[in-house]
Amino acid sequence: MDQIRIIGGAPLNGLVEVSGAKNAALPILAASLLGGGECIIDHVPQVRDLITMGKLLALLGVEVQTEGSRVVMEASKVQSIEAPYDLVKTMRASILALGPLLTRLGEAKVSLPGGCAIGTRPVNLHLKGLAMMGAEVEVEHGYIHAKARRLKGARIDLDFPTVTGTENLIMAACLAEGTTSLHHVAREPEIADLCAFLTKRGAKILGAGTDTIIIEGVSELHGAKHEVMPDRVEAGTFVMAGAITGGDITVKGCISDHLGTVFTKIQEMGVELTEHSEGVRVRRSGPLKAVEVKTLPYPGFPTDLQAQMMALMSVADGTSILTETIFEGRFLHVPELHRMGASIEIDGPHAVVKGIPVLTGAPVMASDLRASAGLVLAGLAAEGETTISRVYHLDRGYERLEEKLKAVGAQVERVREVV
Ligand code: UD1
Repeated sequence: MDQIRIIGGAPLNGLVEVSGAKNAALPILAASLLGGGECIIDHVPQVRDLITMGKLLALLGVEVQTEGSRVVMEASKVQSIEAPYDLVKTMRASILALGPLLTRLGEAKVSLPGGCAIGTRPVNLHLKGLAMMGAEVEVEHGYIHAKARRLKGARIDLDFPTVTGTENLIMAACLAEGTTSLHHVAREPEIADLCAFLTKRGAKILGAGTDTIIIEGVSELHGAKHEVMPDRVEAGTFVMAGAITGGDITVKGCISDHLGTVFTKIQEMGVELTEHSEGVRVRRSGPLKAVEVKTLPYPGFPTDLQAQMMALMSVADGTSILTETIFEGRFLHVPELHRMGASIEIDGPHAVVKGIPVLTGAPVMASDLRASAGLVLAGLAAEGETTISRVYHLDRGYERLEEKLKAVGAQVERVREVV
């Protein structure tokens, strides 16, 4: 198993480019299931979750070809209705096959994703919405089994703006009979990107990117070409890498509109962010200052940048408070940051972070995708050597992270774990 070794303390300088968004590419690839016709998707990040999605689609009968960051799919021969446990257990986003399979083939069997390191992650809202569209949904032998000859448009009010739940219902509604109106849905930019792709395929969608989306069902979708939006979580991670090391980097492909709340907090910490033709420039002259941050659905502060923010808070001047409201138990990086000298106390959903002048490098272990990124940032700022094991978590969602960081001056390398 690979490890990442970092010698901390080097300020980052230069230009770093953001890849395509994992969380937009996943539903867009899943949306290939909705009909035949060639779908050409560009700017797909080469990360493990997307390889898994490609495998799942191929298993279901989609012809999938990958050439660098381009994925070409043809789904006219989709016949299988089953997303098996072996794939779903490695990637919860496999649940995104549920809506498309059900609406296209009239039946879907998708393994129920189990718990994961960041707490229980139910899919009840996906199922409730599909049932409101007329599906018979049963959970049996660990599988979600849904059937409907043709889904029917309905009014659905979500109890919570679930991201993949919203995406599943949008995709299901594209081929349903009549009009579906979805209320209190998630507003993440990745959903608007999915809707843009679906619209190119012939879907009729109004309100993409807002909390009310109206979809008029059509009988079939055709092929289309689309370029995936840049990854805002990766962009935010690079901005924070610049901020924590105190260098001067420009993050190319960073869309500041997607990171409004994050930028406000980073600026409040004393970091200068300026937009120019090549991207967002990140500089800091004084020490980082403590802030209060609460994770919320978009446009609030993203939970996917919480661990990275905690790394910054660990070395900020003063006491910061970080409240996690999206996922219970998403503080697994805290004991690892303790190993690096951080002073963090957890009180329910709150983390109280007393900034210290400098973290010290240590062997640490990644527990989930974003926690790993938090540890990388901590390692970049720490004195001495940090080794991060279980980096397969990082590889699920970050494309060539260590290479990109190395190119802007970080002392970082991937090494084989000695067992
Ligand atoms: C997506 C993102 C993930 C991000 C998360 C929150 C993808 C592939 N993944 O995950 O990176 O961290 O959004 O921004 O886009 N919930 C329910 N019932 C449901 C569904 C969700 O109670 O049926 C709850 C969850 O337990 C959680 C909250 O809603 O507390 C948010 O989850 P959700 O938005 O569904 O996250 P994902 O779509 O799984």
